[in-house]
Amino acid sequence: MSVFPQVRGRRLRTTPALRRLVAETRLHPADLILPVFVREGISEAQPIASMPGVVHHSLESLKPALAEAAEAGIGGVMLFGVPLDEKKDAAGSGATDPDGILNRAIRVAADEAGDALVVQSDLCLDEFTDHGHCGVLDADGVVDNDATLERYRDMAVLHAEAGSQIIAPSGMMDGQVAAIRDALDAHGHQDRAILAYAAKYASAFYGPFREAVQSSLTGDRRTYQMDNGNRREGQREVALDLEEGADIVMVKPAMSYLDVLADTAASSDVPVWAYQISGEYSMIHAAAQNGWIDLDAASLESVLGIKRAGADAILTYFAVDLAQRLTGRGDPSRSIR
Ligand code: PBG
Repeated sequence: MSVFPQVRGRRLRTTPALRRLVAETRLHPADLILPVFVREGISEAQPIASMPGVVHHSLESLKPALAEAAEAGIGGVMLFGVPLDEKKDAAGSGATDPDGILNRAIRVAADEAGDALVVQSDLCLDEFTDHGHCGVLDADGVVDNDATLERYRDMAVLHAEAGSQIIAPSGMMDGQVAAIRDALDAHGHQDRAILAYAAKYASAFYGPFREAVQSSLTGDRRTYQMDNGNRREGQREVALDLEEGADIVMVKPAMSYLDVLADTAASSDVPVWAYQISGEYSMIHAAAQNGWIDLDAASLESVLGIKRAGADAILTYFAVDLAQRLTGRGDPSRSIR
């Protein structure tokens, strides 16, 4: 006598409609945030070779891109500025020029799309320094934590004045959230939120981004970004940022740190976000270009996995494409049901 299984997982997998009904995790366009690079000194959008489908925007080409993002229904944009090479210096002065490229980009985004999209800004010095580090250096060439905080305070106020609604310090300096909160409040910007890049690891997957911001970094960021194997320390960083006043905490990168993300989702009562970074994006594209994986299936699976692990929202270069597929815009054969 053979014994037939009474419990059959396959029953609920029979048809697409049934699978859709019992799906535990759903993506919504509003879960998605698009990182956007705005570059000084160009008049039209230019492709970024290391990131297929991602461009450097000019202040002009930014506008239709924002309109497209708003139309797709994504939750917001995260702005990065790429200054002219000759404007980079040791202090990252361009970051605190009210007419620096990032502050100008924030103003354009807030004016053009501030109602439809949440305008957010990455607050870091690496795009603006000639040495490429996320802070200013001391006499020994080591990133000087507390001197960097002074720079971050000034940047935060400028971002707020330009119209950024969520300010996102990504430099992994100790005390950066408290410093920025204090500076914002002292200047009447109590209403601006802080998204803490709370658990941010020193990752090889930032590679394509370094090209995207034309970083001049030599060496690495391991004296401030976290060590790859440290899971518990991720929770310590999250707890510290919450004590310092973070409104939202983020784990970055996402795909190699899903355990840290799940821990953070379990331990935090604020929104928890994750950043699918440049290398995580580009490696999917590269494999797809080689015909090894299917781009649409893999991009969806990767972002769904990040949400399943506990992210309430995801920063991803796939944001607009996924949102369009989720809402049936564009090519119907690519739509996500
Ligand atoms: C720092 C910053 C980085 C990224 C976002 N903010 C680079 C780094 O820390 O080296 C990476 C984003 C990506 O790789 O997509 N300004």
